[in-house]
Amino acid sequence: MNAPAPSRRPLPAEVLAGLRAALGERAATGESVRAQYGRDESSFAPAPPDAVVFPRSTDEVAAVARLCHAHGVPMIPYGVGSSVEGHVLAVRGGVSVALGQMNEVLAVHAADLDAVVQPGVTRKQLNEALKGTGLFFPLDPGADASIGGMAATRASGTNAVRYGTMRENVLALTVVLADGTVLRTGTRARKSSAGYDLTRLFVGSEGTLGIITELTVRVHPQPEAISAATCRFPTVRDAVEAVIQIIQLGVPIARCELVDAAAIRAINRHSKTALPEAPMLFFEFHGSPAGVAEQARTVEAVATERGGAGFEWSATPEERTRLWTARHHCYFATLGLRPNTRVVSTDVCVPISRLADCIAATEADCAATGLPIVLVGHVGDGNFHLGINVDPASHDEMARAEALNRRVVGRALELGGTSTGEHGIGLGKREFLEAEHGAAAVATMRAVKRALDPQNLMNPGKVIPD
Ligand code: LAC
Ligand code: ZN
Repeated sequence: MNAPAPSRRPLPAEVLAGLRAALGERAATGESVRAQYGRDESSFAPAPPDAVVFPRSTDEVAAVARLCHAHGVPMIPYGVGSSVEGHVLAVRGGVSVALGQMNEVLAVHAADLDAVVQPGVTRKQLNEALKGTGLFFPLDPGADASIGGMAATRASGTNAVRYGTMRENVLALTVVLADGTVLRTGTRARKSSAGYDLTRLFVGSEGTLGIITELTVRVHPQPEAISAATCRFPTVRDAVEAVIQIIQLGVPIARCELVDAAAIRAINRHSKTALPEAPMLFFEFHGSPAGVAEQARTVEAVATERGGAGFEWSATPEERTRLWTARHHCYFATLGLRPNTRVVSTDVCVPISRLADCIAATEADCAATGLPIVLVGHVGDGNFHLGINVDPASHDEMARAEALNRRVVGRALELGGTSTGEHGIGLGKREFLEAEHGAAAVATMRAVKRALDPQNLMNPGKVIPD
């Protein structure tokens, strides 16, 4: 998939001079740095910005915004570049605001179970900082993403089924608007009825409404006991039927991942694992030792009823890390299926009772494309992905992948679901926004966008359809 033809003009000399005056060497225009900040993990063609700035404070971000605003220059917030829908591509040029140097954990309020971080702090870095407190930040989208980027995309991942998504885990934000205005949203209180929920307006706004420069996030007590298990099934449908029942029973499962046989083959090859090449579920249980044992018994009984077999338990942290690392590298495993290919990923989410039908119909669609495709899913949430391995030079393959993506999204919407469970709209899913939300809702989104960013300078070309 190619990014739309960029309509861009060169960076005005005054802007560059102003950025240099404000940030010195932390305003860069070299070709390699622009190239580095002009791509993500998606299959979209790279689109480098005209300059990259590396601010170190909210004030510096505000200064950059005032300068860009005065000259009509686009701004693209950038975390670590692990997004998969083209979010950080500078399709209309402008200045990439790289937040990697704003990477301090500012406070851990252990007694209140929250932490205050700068946006460039990554999830693993936060967990390092929490060591010794008995707390952890559970959200895990696979990549070691920045917390600012995770908030901006309303990310989730493997354990959202237990701990929620960024929607549930962000309490408060500091945001710089397009004109340099700095605002705070939310407080450290766990709940509030005070006014419009601006925190949740910015969570998931993908950099199109403002630049997040500070976040207060929830952190959670580390469970006393953790155990993980894998189990294979005769068919994907059997595995998904088991998951539906587990969720409907209210088992407080911490992770529940579906990995189809093709994905297992790719993972075994990439991560040198020896998992059985059949549809599998990977589970993780958190709680007291007795609670974990009880959850595991219930899950094993339900899975066995649905034809699940070969339960393998990983009790040690090392075994669990190996399992989840192998799962997290599935994207790269899919990339490795053929040389010089890219991965088009889909990301739909449906109400849990519709998940088995949705996935079964999707499997038939996949087979019909003739492309190498893996299916993985955060199925406890009703969320799954296809990793479609494509040759980006082949128009035919790209067209087949796009047609499959459309079909899968169309079905998810028909079943009462969403076009993206966790990856976001970015460039690639704008065409589905109206089908999902309706014309009036998209018009309302446009009105919000216009109110906060009338010149359309914040990450233009993303989320809102042209
Ligand atoms: C995953 C990412 C791609 O689940 O969302 O692997
Ligand atoms: Zn995912």
